[in-house]
Amino acid sequence: MIILIINGPNLNLLGVRKPEQYGKESLTDIEKWIKINATPKIKKIIFFQSNHEGKIIDIIHELYKKIDGIIINPGALTHYSYSLRDAIESVQIPTVEIHLSNIMDRESFRKTSVIKDICISQVFGKGKKGYLDAINILCNYKENQL
Ligand code: DQA
Repeated sequence: MIILIINGPNLNLLGVRKPEQYGKESLTDIEKWIKINATPKIKKIIFFQSNHEGKIIDIIHELYKKIDGIIINPGALTHYSYSLRDAIESVQIPTVEIHLSNIMDRESFRKTSVIKDICISQVFGKGKKGYLDAINILCNYKENQL
């Protein structure tokens, strides 16, 4: 399996941004940790981060024919980006939405996800371990499809 892990706006500031909420590790630290700890069923992980909605949509368009699944932490785009939602829905690649923090236990605008119902699952509040959970969800989904 080849998967694309996308992190959206402001996630490049992990380690600096609200460490009490998002932890002390940088995104690079977390990506290295994911690579080491992901199940060997994953042949390749492509990491992508952008602060720009259009660039996130572009990478989905560019890579969808080459990947088996997407894991996306869209940051605040989660709560309002219909164009991101349309991009994910258009390519029909199984996608898991993930958030480091517990979005259900914060400001009320964070409780809304405009992509939730077109993703196969939503993971939140588990910190970096959520990315591994998301990988396992994708693997199980793929195995059940065979
Ligand atoms: C986040 C939660 C979002 O509400 C927020 O805008 C983020 C990070 C998370 O990982 O917990 O940027 O997606």
